[in-house]
Amino acid sequence: MLKVGIIGMGHMGERHINSYKNIDNVEVGAVNDVRISELVNKFDLEGIKTYEKIDDLLNDECIDFVDICLPTFLHKEYTTKALDAGKHVICEKPMAMNVEECDAMIEAQKKSGRFLMIAQCIRFWNEYEILKDYVFQNKFGRLLSLYMLRACEPPSWSWNNWLEQGSKSGGAILDLHVHDVDMVNYLLGKPEAVYSVGANAIKGGGIDILSTQYLYDKDIVVTVDCNWAVEGRFGFEAGFRACFERGTIIFSTKNNPSITIYPKDKDSFVPELETKDAYEKELSYFADCIEKGKEPEIVTPKSARDTIKIVTAELKSIESKEKSLI
Ligand SMILES: NC(=O)c1ccc[n+]([C@@H]2O[C@H](COP(=O)([O-])OP(=O)(O)OC[C@H]3O[C@@H](n4cnc5c(N)ncnc54)[C@H](O)[C@@H]3O)[C@@H](O)[C@H]2O)c1
Repeated sequence: MLKVGIIGMGHMGERHINSYKNIDNVEVGAVNDVRISELVNKFDLEGIKTYEKIDDLLNDECIDFVDICLPTFLHKEYTTKALDAGKHVICEKPMAMNVEECDAMIEAQKKSGRFLMIAQCIRFWNEYEILKDYVFQNKFGRLLSLYMLRACEPPSWSWNNWLEQGSKSGGAILDLHVHDVDMVNYLLGKPEAVYSVGANAIKGGGIDILSTQYLYDKDIVVTVDCNWAVEGRFGFEAGFRACFERGTIIFSTKNNPSITIYPKDKDSFVPELETKDAYEKELSYFADCIEKGKEPEIVTPKSARDTIKIVTAELKSIESKEKSLI
């Protein structure tokens, strides 16, 4: 049985502690949060150690791996510390605030000989896994165009409102849009260049609304929109429309059923979806890699770093109003 220490018990820490309840080979051994005394009554922490200081958790020899659910501006500092302390690390997306920080994390991982995986959860999301299978296995021939979107209300729910501060979260472009950038990178590899337009809508935020074209050295049109300044009780929407030579796939979290497949010259159908939660699959995959001593392949540190590199080029393009090479 592996023991995990969760660092940061806010929104994602809560999701992850619940996910581990359904993972057979992992037990939550300890949790840490700067405001742990405030949070202890929120969770059932029977048999789980609570630490106010991260170092105390990192020095706990019972802990095999740590799960970092801290605000993004802390990812690099605590991931490198945890690796230096000899722990395997799964760290929430986005990997870090910029490419330099990603490089420092990769350096620490190499030195430590431990595993590092960035929790790019939509690589484990069933609808995106279906899309990946159609792309990788050429089920409908060549992908001609891919449109993705992600949108939500202004993110006012975080600890000390760090999400709405561009200097701490990187704004929607780094925090929310990064999911789709990562999917573009996963499915098609790094583009040659990007052309983005974007704007700031939340005071003190970063780029909160944007649209990007990903330019490849092949005939394909790839566009991603993102907006976390949607007012009204809109909630959240993520989706895609993928057009292939011999069919189309459409997904939206606002549709029911969420995903429909439209083969050319045949009736459309709804594929069977897994019931297992994507977060559970992602955490369970990382634990299995540790148990088997097998380096995680679905999200490598380099690939997560490339995703941040693409986001950086998008920022540059927004600023310069020109296309930016990757
Ligand atoms: N994969 C996803 O779908 C998804 C969704 C939301 C957020 N995230 C990511 O998860 C990470 C955390 O986001 P969140 O929404 O849980 O934020 P949050 O504000 O809800 O929680 C952050 C927690 O970290 C704690 N904290 C802050 N500084 C600390 C420190 N120095 N030591 C210990 N604890 C500290 C805070 O007290 C808080 O409880 C971010 O990187 C975010 O981008 C991922």
